[in-house]
Amino acid sequence: VGQRSLPIYPVILKCPFQVQQDDVIPLHFPVKSADGKRLIREVPVSKGQVIHIPSRTVDCLRNVWGEDAGIFNPERFLDPAKMPISGHTTSGWGGLFCFSEGPRMCVGFRLGKLCRLF
Ligand code: HEM
Repeated sequence: VGQRSLPIYPVILKCPFQVQQDDVIPLHFPVKSADGKRLIREVPVSKGQVIHIPSRTVDCLRNVWGEDAGIFNPERFLDPAKMPISGHTTSGWGGLFCFSEGPRMCVGFRLGKLCRLF
């Protein structure tokens, strides 16, 4: 249940990160530029810049979680065909971004689960 309630009703809407050095963020799913002429595969970022990663958007991508991604439907896990393709999700808990991911990922997610915070 938590694996669908948290993505749809996240506790933390977006995670701000401050960029430590000039870099580029590769996009897992390239997007078209506003004029539709270019395919954008990475986003350049500068040192000191603050970027926000929107948790709900990431966890409710329809091309990853299916057409009902934004609908609370925990039964989806009963159908293996409705599971996201391996490698298309984030590396966070359950393939989700609601606890962030990487070395600064929430350290209390197991306790949160144990206490039924979600
Ligand atoms: C539903 C419950 C919870 C949610 C959705 C949540 C979510 C998050 C998120 C999104 C972050 C940011 C990670 C980042 O900066 O990349 C975070 C960090 C953190 N959380 Fe949680 N959290 C929850 C419960 C808890 C609990 C119960 C504890 C401790 C008892 C906890 C302890 C922490 C700590 C210490 C950090 C900082 C980790 C670091 O910066 O290295 N969280 N949490």
